[in-house]
Amino acid sequence: MNLRMLEETAKELVSPGRGLLAADESFGTIGKRFEAVGIEAGEENRRAYREMLFTTEGIGEYLSGVILFEETLEQRASDGRTLPRVLLDQGVIPGIKVDKSTVPMPLSPDEKFTRGLDGLDERMAEYRETGARFAKWRAVITIGNGIPTEGCIEANARSLALYAAFCQEHDLVPIVEPEVLIDGDHSIEDCYETTERVLHATFQALYEQNVEYSGMLLKPNMVIPGKEAKRQAGVEEVARATVECLLRTVPAAVPGIVFLSGGQGVTQATARLNAMNSAYGDSPWELSFSYARALQEPPMEIWKGQTGNVEEAQKAFHHRLKMNGAARSGTYSEEMEGEAA
Ligand code: 13P
Repeated sequence: MNLRMLEETAKELVSPGRGLLAADESFGTIGKRFEAVGIEAGEENRRAYREMLFTTEGIGEYLSGVILFEETLEQRASDGRTLPRVLLDQGVIPGIKVDKSTVPMPLSPDEKFTRGLDGLDERMAEYRETGARFAKWRAVITIGNGIPTEGCIEANARSLALYAAFCQEHDLVPIVEPEVLIDGDHSIEDCYETTERVLHATFQALYEQNVEYSGMLLKPNMVIPGKEAKRQAGVEEVARATVECLLRTVPAAVPGIVFLSGGQGVTQATARLNAMNSAYGDSPWELSFSYARALQEPPMEIWKGQTGNVEEAQKAFHHRLKMNGAARSGTYSEEMEGEAA
């Protein structure tokens, strides 16, 4: 393990004014997202869509890294460059999702367990060769009747920690993503309590696997009410609850926290990140973004699989990046949404 290199990469990924794009949707997930806006599924559309995103001019100003799905590593842009090369040419670091998605937790089918440890060691050596410098593994925790169970939290924390240890051994910065889902009618307090439990277990497991906190990033959910909850929370309330929960659980040696958007509204995800940076800018870690939906929804809807829409879609993508780039320093405001990208 080259800790100096891991630390440098982790720091660059959370450098000021920039954040991450998660473009690592599996075949099933991107198929669903495409279907929702009337885009035909299939490899060519996945390639063309991601080429459209990655060739957007000037993205390197706001984007430090992109998380890719395995298929994308080998795909090429129309000019023959591989898509990871396109990113590198924009000054953006390519990363790779390495988990193999979730299955129902055995004997507790309302919960999920993330697979992918088998063969991970060999796969990582290959990913490193294709230019990936960081990786992602996502665990999913559901709040519901009697869940999450300790068994589910513990099993996922263990897997995340083993994955992170393999990553560091292969000089890939692990992004550790334990996501407490927005699904359900739970309160913000329930989300706080569960997120705290999950993060405690995760950092305990990371410690036991000898993972170096200074060479990793955490990708958590924000502390928010379930999407069916009767009482929704204000921007400041979410910022306060989230930072307080993280202060209680995340070691200061972790260089950055890169939130997932998790089904929040597009501008809501920006405003909440902005509130955290404006009120808690002196917290021990960088507070950044690693959004999929909150960055991709507007451009995907405009693109619709048509070459003629590329320019407009790229404008929308660039605009979302710029807004979230501003949220990194707490200088975003709603009025900026009206500005041309
Ligand atoms: P969302 O921002 O859409 O939640 O996706 C982030 C992600 O990478 C999920 O694994």
